[in-house]
Formats: sequence, structure tokens, C-alpha cells
Amino acid sequence: MRLSTSTISTLLCFSFQLNTQASPTPYSLPANVSQHLPLPLPVQVIHQFPPGTWLENLAVQSSGDILVTLLTSPDIYQIDPSQQRAPLLIHSFTPYLGLLGITELQPNIFYLAAGNASYTALDSPGTWAIFELDLTQGATAPRVTKIADFPNAHLLNGLTTLSVSSGTLLVADSLAGVVYRLDTRTGQSAIVIDDPSLKGYPGINSSTTTPNLGINGIKIRHGSLYFTNSALAQLVRIPIHADGTPRGPAVVLSRDVSFPDDFVLDHEGNAFVAEIGVNNLALVRLGNGGAKTVLAGAPLEDPGVLAGPTAVEFGRGRAERRRLYITTSGGLASGLANRTLGGTLSRVEVGGTGWF
Ligand SMILES: *[C@@H]1O[C@H](CO)[C@@H](O)[C@H](O)[C@H]1NC(C)=O
Ligand SMILES: *[C@@H]1O[C@H](CO)[C@@H](O)[C@H](O)[C@H]1NC(C)=O
Ligand SMILES: *[C@@H]1O[C@H](CO)[C@@H](O)[C@H](O)[C@H]1NC(C)=O
Ligand SMILES: *[C@@H]1O[C@H](CO)[C@@H](O)[C@H](O)[C@H]1NC(C)=O
Repeated sequence: MRLSTSTISTLLCFSFQLNTQASPTPYSLPANVSQHLPLPLPVQVIHQFPPGTWLENLAVQSSGDILVTLLTSPDIYQIDPSQQRAPLLIHSFTPYLGLLGITELQPNIFYLAAGNASYTALDSPGTWAIFELDLTQGATAPRVTKIADFPNAHLLNGLTTLSVSSGTLLVADSLAGVVYRLDTRTGQSAIVIDDPSLKGYPGINSSTTTPNLGINGIKIRHGSLYFTNSALAQLVRIPIHADGTPRGPAVVLSRDVSFPDDFVLDHEGNAFVAEIGVNNLALVRLGNGGAKTVLAGAPLEDPGVLAGPTAVEFGRGRAERRRLYITTSGGLASGLANRTLGGTLSRVEVGGTGWF
């Protein structure tokens, strides 16, 4: 969840504190976006990693630099979106095999999930930890601290900030189908949401090689947790208390997101969803019955354009507010393995002449 202080003051029904150190207010799209956008929106590759590299998630720093986590190695890179500096390997979290979700809690203090998952063997029980990555001294002087092990976790995936003031995060386990709250100050964690809406297909053993991922990306908005359920192709909202526990039933907002990975929300309740299974970026209008428009990638154009999109975030900084940054897997698990694309960090301008 990324909101500015000024935005928070406008969220009248919002009852608890969020990440106040995050990106500026995103814009909202006109209601008839699909009629006025020249679709597909162009996808600009900022950086492409070598073939076989799966980029899994991203966070945007206040400087505008972008942190990307890799699943195929335990590496986090900083990428300058203006491409004036080469990507910087900030840290390798050996001996973990890969990194997943990442969230900022305090300015330039990030938390990320590390574990022994690979895209061919996602279920890796007992290998999971959440680390703190403190970049307050700069990306060349990272300070890394393990916050907690998760001995019962199967696949820690999406992360989001629950409360800046109490230093808490929510962490999704995609295979167990639960959400943990983690207190980053004490390292204590507890399952706070365990609901059928978080699980994958019922009755399928998630330790088989077929990924049966339930809850995946998570964001908090207006006192609710929003999440994708990958196997069920859903975008779901569940109202939560300040401690992360549910305060009402889950509501399915869309049943039409095709094997979704992570996503981002704008301030009008539009969700931009990385549809990893079908190689595109989709817009889902939550206020319009979950109507979906594919903005870029397949089937509008070659699936290699957005091969396996994994996560989406808005840029930060005035010139960046209409830009989405997207990580991709290179299509390793999206039917493109034959094409040996490298995972990318790409940009899509979702603003347009005459919209504002
Ligand atoms: C569609 O959006 C344009 C602005 O881009 C606006 O002028 C027009 O009235 C809208 N049409 C409908 C049917 O909402
Ligand atoms: C993860 O895998 C590496 C390499 O196989 C191994 O050294 C390490 O102990 C594993 N970590 C855990 C927590 O199981
Ligand atoms: C899932 O499959 C594994 C491997 O066959 C087995 O050890 C495990 O007990 C199964 N779990 C469930 C819940 O059926
Ligand atoms: C994958 O590559 C192999 C070897 O180059 C080729 O024979 C096969 O047709 C390709 N498959 C697809 C789906 O493109």
C-alpha cells in the first residue's frame, strides 16, 4: 500500500494508519477508458535481465529508483528508471533460493520475503523468512537484518504495510492460503486471516507440481485488504480491523482476472493487475462491477511484450504519477519458456492526452 500523507487526510472513512512515506497520489482514469485509449498501451522495457531470470516484485523508492526482487536467485537490484545508471545488485540473500514480495515501512526501510521456492517447485515449507533491508545509508551500504523465520509457511508471497506507527506488515502465504501479521519490532507473527477466499482450488494438494496458489498480491485501502487469488482468478476485498483481523466477510470483486499475480490500486478503485498466466496488464474497474480491460500485452499483441507480468507499482515523483512499472518473469511459467526471454522491468504510461 502506498499513499501520501495528503492522500490519507482525504480518506475520511479510513480508520487506521498506513504507510505515510510512500508514493504521491495516483490519478484516476476516465470511466470510458477503453474507448479513449489507443490500446494496446506501449510497453517500454527499462531493463531486461538475462534469459532465465524471473523478476518477482518491485518497490519504488522516494528517489524514484526501483527495487526489484528476483525469484530465480536471492537478489535484489536497484534500477534507475531514467537508465542513466546501470542496475545495481544491492544484496544477495544467500543461501535462500529466491525473493518474493517487498514493502516499504519507514522511508527507505524495506521488508521482503526470502525462501527456497523456485518456479518449478513453489512449495518450500519451513524455508521462509522476512528480512529488513535498510537503505537509509544508500543502496551501496545496505543493512540487512532477519526479522523472523516462518517455520510453518509454504510460500510467502505478497507483502504490504499494515501500520507504520506500530511497525506491522501483512504477509500472504499463497499455498497455505493465510495472511500473517508480522510485528517488525519484535519479530512476532500470527495468522490473522484464514478464510476460504484465500485458498486455491479446493481439494488440490498444493505440494504437487501444479501450482495451486490462492492469495497472491495484497494491498490495503480504506480499511480493507484487497488481494488476488491466482487459482480462482479473482480479485477479492475483505474488511479488516487495525490489527489485520477480518471485520466482515470477503467480497469477490472480479472473477475474471486470468491467473493474476500482484496488482496496484489507484485512488478511484481501479486495479491494475499483472495477469501472469496470460501475459498482459489488465485494468479492473472495481466500481464498475469489476469490468476488465486489457491495457497491454496479449491478446492485443505478441505475448512476449509482457511475458509473465508479476507485479505492478506506480512511479514516484511528479513526472511519474501516470506511469506504471511492471516486473516480468520472462514468461518462464506462462507458455513462453521456449523463447528464452529475460525478465524485464518495463514501464507503461497510463496517462494520455485529453484525460486530465
Ligand atoms: C468519455 O470520456 C471523454 C473524455 O475522455 C468524455 O469527453 C466523454 O464524455 C466520455 N463519454 C462517456 C460516454 O462517458
Ligand atoms: C535453502 O537451500 C539452500 C541450498 O540448497 C540450503 O543451503 C539452505 O539451507 C536452504 N534453506 C533452508 C531454510 O532450508
Ligand atoms: C500432499 O502430497 C504430498 C506428497 O505426495 C504428501 O506427502 C502430503 O501428505 C499431501 N498433503 C495432503 C494435505 O494431502
Ligand atoms: C520449442 O522449441 C523446440 C526446439 O527448438 C521446437 O521444436 C518446438 O516446436 C518449440 N515449441 C513451441 C511451442 O514453440
